[in-house]
Amino acid sequence: MTQRTLVLLKPDTVRRGLVGEVLSRFEAKGLSIVAMELRHIDAAKADEHYAEHVERDFYPPLRDFVTSGPLVAMVLEGDEAIEVVRALNGATDGRKAAPGTIRGDLSLSNRENLVHGSDSPDSAAREIAIWFPQLAL
Ligand code: TYD
Ligand code: MG
Repeated sequence: MTQRTLVLLKPDTVRRGLVGEVLSRFEAKGLSIVAMELRHIDAAKADEHYAEHVERDFYPPLRDFVTSGPLVAMVLEGDEAIEVVRALNGATDGRKAAPGTIRGDLSLSNRENLVHGSDSPDSAAREIAIWFPQLAL
């Protein structure tokens, strides 16, 4: 089933010059770019995106990180895109993510883990509405 998912190349990806490397993996997999934009978000936007995590202990430094510089937000489309992107991204903690995944190959951090991908169809709809309201259904 064709799906759309919200993907972020977080500020560490931009800072490290890995936008091309990471984007290449999604493109090589066969996913289509439906929308893409460089954004530097404020704390309110971070809170909206990470609504499920705002009360967690790890959130304040996560908020500081995602607002620390520009990121690349995009909507990717393809067959089973939500699960496919999560598989390409790898486990949350870059130290534990499997080699061959984006995080497993390129991140050594549980916070600065390069990428975000929506975790379900409901999350994808919510997140696409936040980042690209012009695409929301
Ligand atoms: P989460 O939604 O659990 O991970 P994922 O991005 O794989 O869906 O957490 C959101 C982000 O929060 C995660 O990408 C990195 C950060 N994070 C921390 O900084 N510390 C933590 O202990 C966890 C679980 C996540
Ligand atoms: Mg998540």
